[in-house]
Amino acid sequence: MRETWQLVRRGLQLFTRRGRIILWLYGVSLVLLAALDAAALFLLARVFNLGSIGDSSQIVVNATASTLVLILLLFCLRSALSSVMTYIALRQGAREETLIGNRALATLINPRTELSADGLSDFYNSVDRGPKELVLVIFHAVTVPCEALTAVAIISALVVYQPLTAVIALLYFVVVAIIQQLVLSKRSSDIGEALVKHTDGVYRSLADIQGLRQILHSESVTSALQVTAEARSELTQARAMQTFVSTLPRYFLEVILAVGLLVVGGSTYLIAGAPDALAATSLFVAAGFRLLPIVNRIQALTLAVLAYAPTARLALRRYHTVAMPKYSSPTKTHNIVELRDVSFAYSTAIPETEPGSDVLRQISLELEQGKQYALVGPSGAGKTTLVDLLLGLLVPQSGSIRLRPTIRTAYVPQETFIASLPLRNNVALQWSDEHIQSDRVANALHRAGLQDFTTRIADDTSLDPTALSGGQKQRIGLARALYTDANLYIFDEVTSALDMETERRIYETIDALRGRATVVIVAHRLSTVQRADSVFYLDSGMIAGAGTFAELSDSLPAFRRQIELSQIDLSR
Ligand SMILES: Nc1ncnc2c1ncn2[C@@H]1O[C@H](COP(=O)(O)OP(=O)(O)OP(=O)(O)O)[C@@H](O)[C@H]1O
Ligand SMILES: [Mg+2]
Repeated sequence: MRETWQLVRRGLQLFTRRGRIILWLYGVSLVLLAALDAAALFLLARVFNLGSIGDSSQIVVNATASTLVLILLLFCLRSALSSVMTYIALRQGAREETLIGNRALATLINPRTELSADGLSDFYNSVDRGPKELVLVIFHAVTVPCEALTAVAIISALVVYQPLTAVIALLYFVVVAIIQQLVLSKRSSDIGEALVKHTDGVYRSLADIQGLRQILHSESVTSALQVTAEARSELTQARAMQTFVSTLPRYFLEVILAVGLLVVGGSTYLIAGAPDALAATSLFVAAGFRLLPIVNRIQALTLAVLAYAPTARLALRRYHTVAMPKYSSPTKTHNIVELRDVSFAYSTAIPETEPGSDVLRQISLELEQGKQYALVGPSGAGKTTLVDLLLGLLVPQSGSIRLRPTIRTAYVPQETFIASLPLRNNVALQWSDEHIQSDRVANALHRAGLQDFTTRIADDTSLDPTALSGGQKQRIGLARALYTDANLYIFDEVTSALDMETERRIYETIDALRGRATVVIVAHRLSTVQRADSVFYLDSGMIAGAGTFAELSDSLPAFRRQIELSQIDLSR
């Protein structure tokens, strides 16, 4: 109970002002409805003269036309107000849900946000399911007390006529509610937890299967299908149980009414005798028809709140986002980037690396405007990490990074991400066509060696990453960088999947950037970086040597050995 209250309170802080106002109005309107209910019931009781204890052997109908019209009007007003308010509340709820999800997405999409291990399911939960259930829980949490108030209003109307019946009915409903709560609320909370757990399982295994599509290995496919099938079966069972538990109070409606009649009639009979018992039961039936659906709704809503709460909590999860530091300008005007004594360690532990141990140590380097640099070294040396630092995606634990304020970076990562968008949108990396310049897309594709693809620029079909070759994907990534007007280009292993001839042409394109922009090439194939102005050799997180290709091959035995292995003819 306290947890739910906290959830509602924290959730409300995420609501907009307008959202909170509408929620408040919604609550007020529910109270108003309760008053209308009581008034209608009061009039109805008068019309049928239900209160005339001692004379109830004959129920007198003392209706005037105006009273009947008033009752009718009250009921109409109630229905109209109820539907209008529900409509407004639902619309606003949807708006709040969208905004809460959008805010989560904006945080999650930040590369500096630290995600938990289940990244994909975190995305879905925080952006879609969490906000949906949170808004539901909040609206339900407002509805429940208001419905309870309606019940109280009806009981009060009863009190005016027959205090005894009212007290017995009230006691009876309280007992029914407590029993149902005891039996079902724990069950509902458990179902809520199960829904979160198994949805996570399904999302995760579906993501794995998607990655597995390319590996047509029958054994792994079978085992992946089995895991997903199990997770889905658990999830569908949990969903079915949730539906069952939520409808359970409805099934017992008639039973509750019948038992209630017996309880109210019986106890009044024992306390006040037969004539009063008849009056009491007739009043209870009249009130019960209004009261029971309310009791039923309160039960169903409470159970729903309990079942949704675990998922709703996902929307409130806080993500740790490292703020982008303010970089100062380089000390020398011709430099675009300066790193001084930079050390970096990942906070997450991975096999074979101690958590917190430095992946980069005491890195100092300067990148001049318009020059071409190469970053080489063994796999795992820290090249990609260094690039991420240059891009501001990672923040060093010590040392300083200085970036020119006008820096515009274009980065081609080691693995190209292909969005499910048409080619032109993939190159411009724009989700709408509005800002795409087709001639620039064509030019970028051409420079990236994808001239055959230029005919597809007008094509509206989305690219399927599984239907593209590794080299095609790399070149789309390259075209994406060339499309932008950057002054620092970083290429991380962009030609590893290309044939020699295509690779040579790509490097002609990259060479053409010389003078106009600073270029950093990360490469294992040393033949590709022979013409770089300066080569940094990174080994175990340190710069083991820097200089021109020739200088480095003379001074650094490890580099020389790499050259020999790649059979580069240095005499050329
Ligand atoms: N997100 C991460 N969390 C924890 N450790 C990481 C992370 N990314 C990389 N590492 C570790 O940091 C070290 C350097 O990795 P990095 O990707 O920078 O190497 P690299 O030089 O680019 O290698 P390659 O040539 O294979 O691409 C490795 O030991 C790697 O396991
Ligand atoms: Mg790398």
